[in-house]
Amino acid sequence: MAAPRVFVTRQIPCIGLERLSEHCDVEVWPGELPPDRNTLLAKVPGAAGLLTLLSDRIDAEVFAAAGPQLKVVSNYAVGYNNIDTVEAQKRGVRVGNTPDVLTAATADMAVALLLAAARHLREGVDDVREGRWQTWKPLGYLGVELSDRTIGIVGGGRIGAAVAQRLHGGWKMRVLYTARSDKRDLEQATGARRVSFEELLEESDFVSIHCDLNPETAGMFDAAALQRMKPGSVLVNTARGGVVDQDALLEALRNGPLLGAGLDVTDPEPLSPEHPLAQAANCVIAPHIGSATREAREAMARIAADNLLAGLFDQPLPAAVV
Ligand code: DGY
Repeated sequence: MAAPRVFVTRQIPCIGLERLSEHCDVEVWPGELPPDRNTLLAKVPGAAGLLTLLSDRIDAEVFAAAGPQLKVVSNYAVGYNNIDTVEAQKRGVRVGNTPDVLTAATADMAVALLLAAARHLREGVDDVREGRWQTWKPLGYLGVELSDRTIGIVGGGRIGAAVAQRLHGGWKMRVLYTARSDKRDLEQATGARRVSFEELLEESDFVSIHCDLNPETAGMFDAAALQRMKPGSVLVNTARGGVVDQDALLEALRNGPLLGAGLDVTDPEPLSPEHPLAQAANCVIAPHIGSATREAREAMARIAADNLLAGLFDQPLPAAVV
């Protein structure tokens, strides 16, 4: 029997590709950039499996182009808002993701952005690079300290809980969180309290976003939400850019109430360097690198390959979305 054909939309750590190559006829897109739409549509016909990235939109058109032999889409990410899972289910295509293994890396990044925004790190670094550092300024770059403050975690899942644990353990922060249900482990580990979104915004000195992007959360941080945040507070987003209304964020950074923001995600990605948010001195933006540690990316490659192989050979997916 011929080996199933698989299309992988980017180079991923070789540990994953080697696993696939043992059992499949693998084509890997060689570009640094994602395949453009027409290329993607041209590559999928005949594939039994797709290994995709968060930058690949896998929708009804792609499923239709792939054809009925497509069995599984394995996303190389924990988030899967790039995949139309309803359409996948309709067509009996299974979908997998890579949870857990990037939790620590992403939580570390959230803390890094929080610290950077709280201490005006971007402004300081820019001033050094661009020759504006003239002297030690008693009143310059005044940030806020983390100890004994309140962190508000939006979405008390794995990454949100890991951020809460870091901030509670390291800086004794009080933890508030929003989630669909109580998170007893998080509460026991950190004394966290589940509150309404409004209370979280009003009470938190730092707010860190860890929810999925879905129709309910899209634009959730709009002008009304951002204006409800505490004066001098900091917003961190390592989830998805679409959760935050960027115009409203810009306004909140320029005219209050926010001291700063730390973003690992934007909408769109990449964000143009000309975008006013990219220019704002009190906004630290990283190029979606939350999971970018060797450990996390290799583990993601292993799980993504295992999901794909399981789907191809009719086994339960180790990490199934549908
Ligand atoms: C994910 O996995 O969803 C992150 O955004 C990228 O690693």
